[in-house]
This record gives sequence, structure tokens and C-alpha cells, in this order.
Amino acid sequence: MATRTQSKSRTGSQSKTTGRSAAGSKSMSTSRTAPRASSSSRSSSSRSSKSQNEDMPNSKFHQLFMDQLKDIYWAEKALVKALGKMQKAATSEELADAISNHQEQTREHVNRLERVFESLGQTAKAKKCPAMEGLIEEGQEVIDDTEEDSSVRDAGLIICAQKIEHYEIATYGSLRTLAGRMGHEEVARLLDQTLGEEKETDVLLTQLAESSVNEEAAAE
Ligand SMILES: [Fe+2]
Ligand SMILES: [Fe+2]
Repeated sequence: MATRTQSKSRTGSQSKTTGRSAAGSKSMSTSRTAPRASSSSRSSSSRSSKSQNEDMPNSKFHQLFMDQLKDIYWAEKALVKALGKMQKAATSEELADAISNHQEQTREHVNRLERVFESLGQTAKAKKCPAMEGLIEEGQEVIDDTEEDSSVRDAGLIICAQKIEHYEIATYGSLRTLAGRMGHEEVARLLDQTLGEEKETDVLLTQLAESSVNEEAAAE
């Protein structure tokens, strides 16, 4: 199939949240919200010292942070494989190239997360992410349900890829904010770097859809 020209469009309907996607930078706006009325077991003295404990490795807040890191670490590793399949299935060269470039970035996201674990003095561990597993399955369904060499397939792959990016954007936006709150500045910087690449990818996918893929899919 022919390759397409780059889009002039910068925003659009393919992904209305593009540019301030999903949870993104605002995602932890609730983080300042005071906890709801405490559970019965917590004494007022433990509550008053809570803010001092938040960055301690054994605090529940830190535990939550570590669990979420393990989740996205699993997701990124699974994505390296999944993006390879999506890239091979793509019809247009432009989409295949975009997916291939993001697969490379995703490998770096895995490495970066390993640096995050290291910086926190922890061994990198993955914990299965059911959400990403489902999103990857959706991508496979699109491949199974569409014709090879069709633009409809590309349109479907872009939708799946953008769902994946939005999940990542929500995750990295939140984790970056948590890291900053805990005073892990280097970790926050690494997570923010990945967040930026996820957002760029989302914008690129929107451009591909709007500049050519959707139109060609409609004409098939
Ligand atoms: Fe990623
Ligand atoms: Fe991504």
C-alpha cells in the first residue's frame, strides 16, 4: 500500500484528550485530598505523623507506589512483544514505522523503569497488569477481524494503540506525581521523560489517523 503524507493536523477528534491526555499531568489532583474519616483502628497520633512516614519504604503509600511500578513494568515488557506483532500487521508503511519507533522507545521504557527500581534500592519486579493484557488482546482481535493490507485494519490498530498510550499516560502521570511527593526527584524525572514520549506517540497516532488512514478506511 502507498505511504501517506504527514498530517498538518495537530489536534482533533481521534483523540479528544490529546495534549492533555487522560490523567496526564493533572492525574493526581486528588492527591492533596484529605483522607476520608479514618478507619476505626487508626489513632489520632498515628495520623498526625502520617506525612512524615509517607516516603518511608514501609509506608502503605510507598507500597502502593511500588505495586504500581511493578504493574507498568510488566505492561512495558508485554508491549515490546505486542508492538512487534502490531507493526508486522500494519498496512501502511507510515503506521508500521511509527509502531516500530515506539517499540524501540518501549524497550527504553523498560530500561528506564529498571533504573527507577535501582534508584529506589529495589530489584525490578513485574506484576501482571490485567488492563494491559486486555488492551493487547484487543489489538490481536483487530488483527484477527480485519483484512490484511486494508486501511480498516490500520484504523483499528491506531485505536488500540491509542488506548494503550492513554493507559500509559495515566500511569506515568500519576507515578511521576507520587514520586515527586515522596521526594524521589530522579525517579520523577525518569518517569516524566517516559510520560513525554507516550504523549508524543499519542499525538503522532492522531495525526496518522486524521491525515490519511481514516479517510482511506472509509473508502474501502
Ligand atoms: Fe511505554
Ligand atoms: Fe507507549
